[in-house]
Amino acid sequence: MEKTPLYPPTARKRVRAAQLALVLLVVSSYAFTYLLWSDSRVETLPINAATILAQCSALHLTPGPPNDFHARTQSDRFVPGTKPTLIRNASIWTGLDSGNEVVYGDVLIDKGLVKKVGSVNLAMLNAYPDVVVLDAAGAWVSPGIVDLHSHLGVGSSPSLNGARDSNSHAGLALPWLRSLDGLNTHDDAYQLSISGGVTTANVLPGSADAIGGQAFVIKLRPTAERSSSAMLLEPPFSLNGTYVDPFQRPRWRQMKHACGENPSRVYSGTRMDTQWAFRQAYNTARILKDKQDAYCGKALAGQWTGLGEFPEDLQWEALVDVLRGRVKVQNHCYEGVDIDGMIRLTNEFKFSIAAFYHAHEAYLVPDLIKKAYGHPPAVAIFATHARFKREASRGSEFAPRILADNGLDVVMKSDHPVLDSRHLIYEAQQAHYFGLAANLALASVTSTPARIMGQDHRIGRLIEGFDADIIVWDSHPLSLGATPTQVFIDGIAQLEKPYTSTKPKSAQKVPATPNFDKEIADAIKYEGLPPLEPETAKSDIVVFRNVGSIFLKNAATRGVSEVFTSAGADGVVVVEKGRIVCSGTQAACPTALSRSDALHLDLEGGSISPGLVSYGSPLGLTHITGEPSTSDGPVFDPLSILVPEIIDGTVIRAADGLLFATRDALLGYRNGVTSAVTAPSSYGFLSGLSTVFGTAAAHKLIDGAVIQKIAALHVALSLSSGISVSTQIATLRSLLLGEGEGDLAKQFADVVAGKIPLVVDVESADIIASVLVLKKEVEAATGKTIRITLTGATEAHLLAKEIGLAGVGVIVQQRPYPKTWQQKRILAGPPLTQSSAIAKFVANNVTVGIKVTDPSEVRNTRFDMAWAALESNGALGKAEALALVSTNLEKLLGVEDGSGDLVATKGGSGFEGKVVAIILPGHGFVDLV
Ligand SMILES: *[C@@H]1O[C@H](CO)[C@@H](O)[C@H](O)[C@H]1NC(C)=O
Ligand SMILES: *[C@@H]1O[C@H](CO)[C@@H](O)[C@H](O)[C@H]1NC(C)=O
Ligand SMILES: *[C@@H]1O[C@H](CO)[C@@H](O)[C@H](O)[C@H]1NC(C)=O
Repeated sequence: MEKTPLYPPTARKRVRAAQLALVLLVVSSYAFTYLLWSDSRVETLPINAATILAQCSALHLTPGPPNDFHARTQSDRFVPGTKPTLIRNASIWTGLDSGNEVVYGDVLIDKGLVKKVGSVNLAMLNAYPDVVVLDAAGAWVSPGIVDLHSHLGVGSSPSLNGARDSNSHAGLALPWLRSLDGLNTHDDAYQLSISGGVTTANVLPGSADAIGGQAFVIKLRPTAERSSSAMLLEPPFSLNGTYVDPFQRPRWRQMKHACGENPSRVYSGTRMDTQWAFRQAYNTARILKDKQDAYCGKALAGQWTGLGEFPEDLQWEALVDVLRGRVKVQNHCYEGVDIDGMIRLTNEFKFSIAAFYHAHEAYLVPDLIKKAYGHPPAVAIFATHARFKREASRGSEFAPRILADNGLDVVMKSDHPVLDSRHLIYEAQQAHYFGLAANLALASVTSTPARIMGQDHRIGRLIEGFDADIIVWDSHPLSLGATPTQVFIDGIAQLEKPYTSTKPKSAQKVPATPNFDKEIADAIKYEGLPPLEPETAKSDIVVFRNVGSIFLKNAATRGVSEVFTSAGADGVVVVEKGRIVCSGTQAACPTALSRSDALHLDLEGGSISPGLVSYGSPLGLTHITGEPSTSDGPVFDPLSILVPEIIDGTVIRAADGLLFATRDALLGYRNGVTSAVTAPSSYGFLSGLSTVFGTAAAHKLIDGAVIQKIAALHVALSLSSGISVSTQIATLRSLLLGEGEGDLAKQFADVVAGKIPLVVDVESADIIASVLVLKKEVEAATGKTIRITLTGATEAHLLAKEIGLAGVGVIVQQRPYPKTWQQKRILAGPPLTQSSAIAKFVANNVTVGIKVTDPSEVRNTRFDMAWAALESNGALGKAEALALVSTNLEKLLGVEDGSGDLVATKGGSGFEGKVVAIILPGHGFVDLV
């Protein structure tokens, strides 16, 4: 058993005693003076002098836990009746030793606290007769996940007009607002995020304002009181206006700041306006602070005459507290230009920033960040969610590694619900995949955010005396798809009946990630925009060595089959002019290895498999989704607006709007996504005709750039479109029954004739049921069979059987989330339900594919696919998982002749692997990526 000392040093002492002595001394000397010189010449000592002096000396107290905090034997959040728990035989990542310590042993929790980490013997258990024992059987155990950037409760799910509580539009600088005032205790996301291991979150106001208000740290579990306030972790004492003991160290407060596009956009202003709003606000706070300090200077010097009341202002007290170093400033700030402005502001007004959020350019300006007043801010970022607006367009997946190399604190965050915080660990996993050391990756969602929010005296590490916020994992937390099997908050088990999916043994180890040294250097060299175009192999012949497995499309089944597995032998694939000419064991390709005219690539046991397909995002129609001038733009929806006569009745074709060489398409290609199906962007009922294109093509006129001009006809049926669902269904019915005109009639006739599929973007199970009824109705009337594919389809699992019987296919997100009412009834998958939605569709013979919604997710398709298999409890093998993002999508979207591209991956399929080459039979060469 390996063990190192547990307690961090606690050296805060003597403060209170010293202050008490000072106040007593000052007050008693006045009293003495007063007695001696009780005539008109002396200062008049106000009746509340002692209170004022205490208040004045309290201004200099720094926030933190009370001195005796670590002597606590029970948590202030302990729920009486909670039984002690012993987690036996665990691999415990404690967070100590810079995140390198692992203790193999037990964890004993009681009274909401971790009582023991290490070996718990029977004698010790005598003191806990009612202990509940959880045998971890060697599983990984970690502290609960801490999300530094969340809008849980203020940006609730499902999102409703009645619950938009994260942004005030009352001004640019509103330090007096409090996110707590909007904290909804009924957000559907709490339970989901807990099931992903999140135990604590910093709930921030939004970024519409320069100073959006005060943030509050919550624990996610339900409370007996059911109140918003009961969720708070160490709220400031002054929160409810009751008397505050001036000698007690204050607790940390949190405040949201934002620069850049968001505040500018909301007020049609500019960065200059936002920066002035900051300076004006800080100047107001500084003047008030100076008045307070002058007042206290006089009071402490005994100059009471005419002193009056202590200068206070309820609106500005929180910002004054920032200047007093008692607030963690959490600063949404993306670009170098904005970071520069904030650094100047900190030095002008002398305050510190706890962390820069989003900070997509932080890795380009580490030395600038180090110039911040006080200390360098931490950098809280997404792993691969980028390029959605100008501010994010230089974001790099290598930022966590580069920032860490520069000695800056790295935090991975969700910005929930921007990313579903249930999967915050996935951000840490990706950061690790792209080069962040394992200890720092785990710290980035536990101990580091706990420290940045000022709560590292009780959460973020798994050590004796800390809050019993603990996760038991089904695999190593940095391995893809790692899922909690139990989560404790304040010692209370949060999963009543956890479901698990069996994981491979290899998932118990830290993934051995690829080397990205060159990519990391290029990210910096090219200021976040490294060239992404593939390089064509110079040799006509490429020999792949050490091939672990080969998967190919199966023409007969229109699926994917494993055609070779090396079973430890040295698998070989010889490619000549883009075509496999020989594959299998070395014996099958005897001359391959000796060919000196060939390029030899060692796949280190990796695979060769079909090129992946992406669907669901506007990939190929936009460079930066938030910038209209970089995008094809939305179509006119005939059901919501009056379409200009000149184009009325024409069905729009995505092929006409394709934009090539977008960074998201090229990143997709480099990660094995060789083609994509994209429909015209629409906010309403009618989208138009989708197209199939190659993700690496430089422009449309290159051979193979447009693989299939028209794939399917796309419509959307939605509860939130502003037009009744019944009207939308009626429209669809009349179009399917041939009542349309012109081009519209022709395209729907093709659907009815079975020539192209009808792809219906629909989330609600009720609308899906109506679609199934409509399909029957139309088929009865026309005598033809229509091909229908449902996409989005978050609630479709409720009708999996009926959808299967109707011969309808579905395309869903790998990770469902109840963002809107019509997506409310998700099938969450383990640990909340045994089956994932995808596994349920497979069990019901429904052809299922995986979609993404944002172009920046395209590059992660291979992770989505592997994850779907990992959480299917064996229902999906590798070949079936590959089909989800290749042949199934092609079938469902009307792709006649999918690409024959093959992807060569070095190393394993999840976080171990890296795509190194794309074999292109259609082009007759191999691309190196
Ligand atoms: C811990 O669990 C592992 C895996 O199940 C098992 O091999 C080992 O014997 C267990 N150790 C103890 C001390 O129970
Ligand atoms: C106000 O806060 C104090 C300190 O946290 C607490 O002791 C007190 O019970 C609270 N009062 C109310 C009315 O919530
Ligand atoms: C799925 O198909 C298989 C094979 O055709 C059949 O045995 C099974 O009953 C079907 N399952 C459902 C739920 O329809």
